[in-house]
Amino acid sequence: MTGKIEHASHDEAPVAPPTDFAARANVTEQQYRDMYARSMHDPEGFWGDTARELHWHAPWDRVLDWQSPHAQWFVGGRTNIAYNALDRQVQRGLGDRRAIVWEGENGDIRTYTYAELLEQVKRAANALLNLGVVSGDRVTLYLPMIPEAAIAMLACARIGATHSVVFGGFSVSALADRIQNAQSRVLITADASYRRGTLVPLKGNADAAAAQAPVLERMLVVCRADCDAPMQEGRDTYWHDALAAASSDHDAAPLDSEHPLFVLYTSGSTGKPKGVVHTTGGYMVGTYLTTRTVFDLKEDDLYWCTADVGWITGHSYIVYGPLLNGASVLMYEGAPNHPDWARFWDITERHGVTVLYTAPTAIRSFMRAGDDFPARHDLSSLRLLGSVGEPINPEAWRWYHRVIGGGRCPVVDTWWQTETGSIMLTTLPGAFPAKPGTAGLPMFGVDPAIVTREGDDVPDGEGGLLVIRKPWPSMLRTVYGDDERYVRTYWGEIPGVYFAGDGARRDADGYITVMGRVDDVLNVSGHRLGTSEIESALVGHASVAEAAVVGRPDEVKGEGVVAFVLLQNGHTADPAELRRHVSRVIGALARPDAIYIADALPKTRSGKIMRRFLRQVAAGQEISGDTSTLEDPSVLDRLAATPAQ
Ligand code: WT7
Repeated sequence: MTGKIEHASHDEAPVAPPTDFAARANVTEQQYRDMYARSMHDPEGFWGDTARELHWHAPWDRVLDWQSPHAQWFVGGRTNIAYNALDRQVQRGLGDRRAIVWEGENGDIRTYTYAELLEQVKRAANALLNLGVVSGDRVTLYLPMIPEAAIAMLACARIGATHSVVFGGFSVSALADRIQNAQSRVLITADASYRRGTLVPLKGNADAAAAQAPVLERMLVVCRADCDAPMQEGRDTYWHDALAAASSDHDAAPLDSEHPLFVLYTSGSTGKPKGVVHTTGGYMVGTYLTTRTVFDLKEDDLYWCTADVGWITGHSYIVYGPLLNGASVLMYEGAPNHPDWARFWDITERHGVTVLYTAPTAIRSFMRAGDDFPARHDLSSLRLLGSVGEPINPEAWRWYHRVIGGGRCPVVDTWWQTETGSIMLTTLPGAFPAKPGTAGLPMFGVDPAIVTREGDDVPDGEGGLLVIRKPWPSMLRTVYGDDERYVRTYWGEIPGVYFAGDGARRDADGYITVMGRVDDVLNVSGHRLGTSEIESALVGHASVAEAAVVGRPDEVKGEGVVAFVLLQNGHTADPAELRRHVSRVIGALARPDAIYIADALPKTRSGKIMRRFLRQVAAGQEISGDTSTLEDPSVLDRLAATPAQ
């Protein structure tokens, strides 16, 4: 299971887009060069023109106000992203176009046209207003991948409520923490969700979280499964009842461009997850432009992003970006391997998916399951493939290109983050040859550099830290409730530039290869986890005195979680119980793959844990490097002889 992931090198042969794809591309090489150049020397002109393609209730006075590190975009402008995603499309004559084609894991299918989606969103907006939600309130969503997730997000946006979507795989206490941190009075959840053929009891988790989150007052409950979740009188209302009782007339609120659209919690290298705050106008313009250009969207596309709406990818590239472009979006509720590993290919064939955006971890699972699964299906509708979430190793890239894309579909490897809001680096599909394993060139307005810790440029070809030197419209604005943390974390590590933790290098063609995190953040199956979060979960268990968590290379997940645990006196090791405990505190995604019960950790004389050595032990490597700063180097020999459990 554990194997070293092969990393991109400079000698990967570039793969040019097919000539017919390039001939029809939304952005050609020359257009990219012209647009990019303008976005650098005249950002206000570039972004102003792009923003004018959308609807504004009132024009802005200034495109950008940059008081480093705080940016305001389209200052003084008023708009509504839900209006732009829906009302505007209906006005343009797209009312009958499919907005969402949804498939449940159990085979249910529902389709919403733009007109139907708009009607649902208006009702949901009124239902929220009826619950007393007002502009500026936070509303937490804990939902499966069902159309109501998009409807609820858009309904919040329509009235100016700030949504906070919590991934359905997070535990009760993770949900409660997020509700409490965001001070949300209202939670939207569902009775249950289908996952690998069984029902996940979301409402049960929501009830337990409510008991730990005193700020919560009301719950709207979507009935996805059998509708038999216990409802608390006076607190809980069924979504369908609330929508039926609500009017379908609603005018979208004209919101300030900097009105907070959503909070999304993400892990950092220290402390509790941060609530990343995105605002309205800049996020709207950034997701709108990147969706059209990166995914080369055309009228007759059926676009499928397999992420969950609980992550930024789902926000930007399932809901907002595609709908702002009038795209038809496929949404799937369940697991990729239910009933078997052909499910994605079955969906692709039956619905005629043309653009597919998924994650390297999924691609590696498909590779491992074997070529027979895709071979059972006709995948000729596909014309473009995308990858996101972690570095894609060249072997997986080539398999995706050859087996799924039939050798004819360009693959766009997109680098970005929760914080960046929209895609920052990629190789536009019809404009340039792609290099397997390398994200590529900066998107419009993005000014990347590869630097040292001190902020000095490193020469092409050498590894360094990836930073962004200019503000961009969809950048995060702050950390919810903790602006000081925003300033320190993102703009304080390397003076004057944005840095969120990745190492990278640039080649002579200007293509950037992102190599992975350089901080204590793990990327497990494309999910971001802070090692300190998992450590504090472990230390919260009665049997644990101390814990250190590191990643180890994993052939499928990219990284696996490895925990080194020191037990309290008198306690015995129970690795299964520790795994369950981490699942309870954070969620199943954080469960350690391996646990070492240790008698000591490798520490310096000043008490700092030397994680470098723990990573070597976790990966089964020989210990190498200078061990002389350790207080007791013999700890390493004992660790190396300890079996993983
Ligand atoms: C981290 C951000 C934004 C999408 C989902 C993840 C890693 C993401 C790539 C890529 C190399 C990538 C980075 C980044 N990452 N995409 N194409 N190539 N690394 O969002 O949870 O905020 O995680 O994911 O390490 O910092 P996120």
